[in-house]
Amino acid sequence: MQPLPYIEKNKDRFISELFELLRIPSVSADSKYKADVLKTAEAVKEKIKTAGADTVEICPTAGYPIVYGEKIIDPSLPTVLVYGHYDVQPADPINLWTSPPFEPVLKDGNIYARGACDDKGQMYMHVKAFEFMMQTNSLPCNIKFMIEGEEEIGSDNLGIFVANNKEKLKADIILISDTGIIANDIPSLTVGLRGLSYLEVEVTGPNRDLHSGLYGGAVANPINVLCEMIAGMKDENNHITIPGFYDDVEVLSTEERAEMAKAPFSLDEYKKALDLSDINGEKGYSTNERISIRPTLDVNGIWGGYTGEGAKTVIASKAYAKISMRLVPNQISDKMTKLFTAYFEKAAPPSVKVKVTPHHGGEAVVTPSNSVAYKAASMAMEKTFGKKPIPFRSGGSIPIVAMFKSELGLDSVLMGFGLDSDAIHSPNEHFGVFNYLKGIETIPYFYQYFAELSKK
Ligand code: BES
Ligand code: MN
Ligand code: MN
Repeated sequence: MQPLPYIEKNKDRFISELFELLRIPSVSADSKYKADVLKTAEAVKEKIKTAGADTVEICPTAGYPIVYGEKIIDPSLPTVLVYGHYDVQPADPINLWTSPPFEPVLKDGNIYARGACDDKGQMYMHVKAFEFMMQTNSLPCNIKFMIEGEEEIGSDNLGIFVANNKEKLKADIILISDTGIIANDIPSLTVGLRGLSYLEVEVTGPNRDLHSGLYGGAVANPINVLCEMIAGMKDENNHITIPGFYDDVEVLSTEERAEMAKAPFSLDEYKKALDLSDINGEKGYSTNERISIRPTLDVNGIWGGYTGEGAKTVIASKAYAKISMRLVPNQISDKMTKLFTAYFEKAAPPSVKVKVTPHHGGEAVVTPSNSVAYKAASMAMEKTFGKKPIPFRSGGSIPIVAMFKSELGLDSVLMGFGLDSDAIHSPNEHFGVFNYLKGIETIPYFYQYFAELSKK
């Protein structure tokens, strides 16, 4: 089994096919793109079919459909369930893109487009690796593809689909490329993801917008109040002050933390990449710990009052914010949402009313790093990168991974190929051609080693 010659021969086509997917703006958060999201599902279906699946179907849900396909070569062989998502984040602010987000271009060895890395590019590596194995008669496992269109909005409908289709989704392992590696010369495998609780708050002061001269000073300004309430949720050590916030947090041993600290990290490079003269975070923890094993509370958006051109002297009636909490193992998303809500309602001064609306959530996971599947992934990366990958916990969230475990009893292998510098969710998202092709090269080895190790 030799993926490289096949990749060398077909790489231009691999890139142009990915471009076709990237041209469809499948933004799940914005209903304006509904037709495009549906069109992307059709396109993904065709691609999986053409690559050699026996059957591919578009499974409807209450939201966007799930593309499901399979190739069963022998029911007695192990089965790998590949998960990915075809939806993408909104592209705005559009004016910060150097080329239009849905007109993919190749520039300096990178593919620039919304979704290039997260997750169309990474998802499509699996389709092309599958094509290679089909074309060269080297597929050693059964494959099931499950590609959803609502990951970026919380995967609620996929959760229902998984719970209702346990037989169909029977597999030995879930394989996902929707995470990253530390660097192109420091391969790594993700063994942890944070959970999430996302909510929106509304603070209401007077029943209408007021002249800030006639009323200013005598009534509560909801924007000021919201800012004070948000500021009050962290103390001088950047500890979150919501009562009970840390109660369930998994505490790592000194040994585990020492092990984690071995992963290469340069604070200087980190600051330089973000144009920061200093970093900021919870006292007592390293940067890597702050973005993996510690929970957070962040404002993702805040608005209210007059934000148009020029000035308007006004005290707004309402102020709003979107707030996320990243959670770590043992913190339950629903419980954290309740703790936040209780705190926020209690912290509000009597001069305003507050309303908290929960959005989506998801649970944190830690995946095993001693399983057959982990070993197969580690061997595959070692084979193609020439270095053994480092296991590490990521700060991002993929809510369905915890549900795969709780509903199907299945662990996931998080073998992603992106880089933190790929700017996912940001303007100018890109994916290295090196990473794209490296993924296509590595995936077939995973199947080979997983089949071999499963036999023993
Ligand atoms: N692929 C990302 C998550 C990710 C990226 C994990 C890099 C680890 C490394 C995924 O598409 C994502 O963005 N998830 C959301 C959660 C979702 C509920 C909106 C996130 O983490 O914000
Ligand atoms: Mn993703
Ligand atoms: Mn994402």
